[in-house]
Amino acid sequence: MYQVSLKNDISFYCEANDTILVGAQKQNLNLSYSCQTGRCQSCKAKVLSGTSIAKVDEIGLSEEDKKKGYILTCVRTPTSDVVLDLDDLSDYKLESIKTLPSKINKITKISADVIELELRTPPQSTFNYLPGQYVNFIKDDYKRSYSVANYNKSSNLVFFIKKYPGGVFSNYLFNEAKINDLLRIEGPIGTFFLRNTDKKNIIFLATGTGIAPVKAILEQMNDDNTGLMTKKIFLFFGGRFSEDLFWKPQFSNINVNFIPVLSKNTEDWDGSTGYVQDILLSKSINLSDSVVYACGSENMINDSNKMLIQNGLSEDSFYSDAFVSTK
Ligand SMILES: Cc1cc2nc3c(=O)[nH]c(=O)nc-3n(C[C@H](O)[C@H](O)[C@H](O)COP(=O)(O)OP(=O)(O)OC[C@H]3O[C@@H](n4cnc5c(N)ncnc54)[C@H](O)[C@@H]3O)c2cc1C
Ligand code: FES
Repeated sequence: MYQVSLKNDISFYCEANDTILVGAQKQNLNLSYSCQTGRCQSCKAKVLSGTSIAKVDEIGLSEEDKKKGYILTCVRTPTSDVVLDLDDLSDYKLESIKTLPSKINKITKISADVIELELRTPPQSTFNYLPGQYVNFIKDDYKRSYSVANYNKSSNLVFFIKKYPGGVFSNYLFNEAKINDLLRIEGPIGTFFLRNTDKKNIIFLATGTGIAPVKAILEQMNDDNTGLMTKKIFLFFGGRFSEDLFWKPQFSNINVNFIPVLSKNTEDWDGSTGYVQDILLSKSINLSDSVVYACGSENMINDSNKMLIQNGLSEDSFYSDAFVSTK
């Protein structure tokens, strides 16, 4: 058993076999995380002292990160007492993770390779989550993660799901799934949710179905816009073709500066062309007074993290959910 110390005099004991993330969770402390497989870097933390070993390769860290002393708490086990330059998330009320049955209520094709899936949970059960969090779908021996795309406590859960050629869940959801099919869900999971901030600009970057948790967070902001009047909200939504941009914000209580972006120029497109992170930089928004929420492809998240920090965003103002493969 080793002691792990965080900022603000918070510490906990972690079993030698547990990852630091699991050790914290066992003590009811929440640290930032998403994929739990060492790929997405949501759980990145700087070690101030102590040693640990990685159970699997830390794919989510660059060589530069490693040299600077960063680790991924979801795959690291302590081998001595450890001090981390990391806050816990005790300011937020996270629901505990549970597994419950759900039934498919509706499947709607919303683009060539994306469906909107609606699940209903049993009427007597309550499934609370923070907008932005995800759940695991469990079917037979397979588990895949999907972000909840809506925020409405009384309604069904909605998801935007992309088809991956040859994918286990893609095959099921796009070819076999029927209304009233039973699907077990496990959640809510992850810490991609709206954080308290003094910063003026709240910027969302999304690619493809990465718009799902962003939509849920924006719905929450529209539902309770307390403190948002002085903020500027930006949404950069990127895809390859115009039909990839299958959703746009239409809210009455918040004003969202919506910038749709296509990575390739097409004849019928007169909007921005390029990558969402490049378009964000071209807008001359003061990044030192901004927080950024990025969701979607691993490449977009890694590039934007690096690029935006180089251009003035503080490291602790970048929150992300990378839709990495479970394979
Ligand atoms: C935290 C989190 C949230 C997610 N939320 C969503 C969501 O809201 N909507 C959504 O559409 N997807 C989401 N994903 C991705 C999703 O979990 C699956 O990876 C995806 O649906 C493919 O599953 P599959 O069973 O169809 O394919 P698999 O059988 O897992 O894989 C089939 C092939 O596709 C490739 N592949 C699988 N997943 C990806 C990927 N994400 N990127 C690139 N290549 C891939 C594999 O390498 C393999 O070659 C999320 C992932 C994570 C980690
Ligand atoms: S890399 Fe640790 S949660 Fe994704």
